[in-house]
Amino acid sequence: MERTFVMVKPDGVQRGLIGEIIRRFETRGLRLIGLKMLRIDEGLARRHYRDHIEKPFFPSLLEFITSSPVVAMVVEGKAAVQNVRTMMGALDPTQAQPGTLRGDYTNDKQLNIIHGSDSVENAEREIGLFFTPEEVLDYERTLDRWLVSP
Ligand code: GTP
Ligand code: MG
Repeated sequence: MERTFVMVKPDGVQRGLIGEIIRRFETRGLRLIGLKMLRIDEGLARRHYRDHIEKPFFPSLLEFITSSPVVAMVVEGKAAVQNVRTMMGALDPTQAQPGTLRGDYTNDKQLNIIHGSDSVENAEREIGLFFTPEEVLDYERTLDRWLVSP
């Protein structure tokens, strides 16, 4: 089992896509073990996007990500990091496949509705930025035995 950090970005919240995004992870068999809505402030945005601070698009990204509430999640499952990335689709709109979240709902490099961690290490770091240990829940679903073979 693996954990990843997922965020519905401000455009996804504004467009009413929170439910659709969560539904896709649930029907795929991934398990939601943390969930909250928050408004990201500049400090958190800089910590979360620390690798992008020097990039030319950072001021625009900072403005966007702090502009309206987001929904933060911890998602658990087999190869959760890569599975979520695959379900999200590519950053480049011309490469985002139909059937992926970005490929079905977006056509823009910045307004791309969802974030998902790109590695297990970054997932752990990002979960720690957004959630206290108590806010990440350990529980079993009865259905899990019909979704994941032993
Ligand atoms: P995230 O899951 O949001 O991290 O997306 P990603 O991993 O597919 O992309 P990356 O980490 O390279 O970039 C982080 C975010 O910065 C993207 O999701 C975009 O919102 C934004 N971004 C990246 N590249 C560009 C760019 O060239 N122009 C603009 N305006 N925004 C960009
Ligand atoms: Mg990224």
